[in-house]
Amino acid sequence: MSLNTIALNRRMNRFDGHAQVWLFGYGSLIYKADFPYVERRPARIRDRSRRFWQGSHDHRGTPEAPGRVLTLVPDPGALCAGMAYLITPEVFHHLDHREKNGYLRHATTIEFGDGGRVEGLVYIAADTNAAWLGPAPEVEIARHIANSEGPSGHNRDYLTHLADALRVLGEDDAHVFAVEKHLKELDGG
Ligand code: SIN
Repeated sequence: MSLNTIALNRRMNRFDGHAQVWLFGYGSLIYKADFPYVERRPARIRDRSRRFWQGSHDHRGTPEAPGRVLTLVPDPGALCAGMAYLITPEVFHHLDHREKNGYLRHATTIEFGDGGRVEGLVYIAADTNAAWLGPAPEVEIARHIANSEGPSGHNRDYLTHLADALRVLGEDDAHVFAVEKHLKELDGG
């Protein structure tokens, strides 16, 4: 798959004709909502887990030295906590550009704490995309993150902002918190 997914995402027509669409965010979309939204609510999706397995050429790294950012991988039985945003369709213009480095829009069921469910969208970078890095020991992921930087800033800020946002939501994430712990140890803390 081509590195830039904008054209592919523009062809995604699952919610055409809808005046508003729910978007589920699990990475930077939790803590950096640089787009207008009607409403936002903590939410979850099933059968996927967050992993720092996606390369970032455009935000937290460069094409020569990609950073490591989050994607979702299949994980039957898992629940992934994040933030859902109710947005209007024109916001996808901005989001497709922001998530263009390998992420595709997928339809998903989004669940709220009160038991409510809606159909919505989530951006996922699959293992077939050109920026995919794949699994590595969490200590290696932390080392990689410690040494990466891109146009959106230091890769370590992506990790720490996300970990802080999960703590504010009262959520645990063994992978994210393990990588954060290794990063602190590498820093001598
Ligand atoms: C997301 O946050 O939902 C997608 C991945 C990212 O932009 O960090």
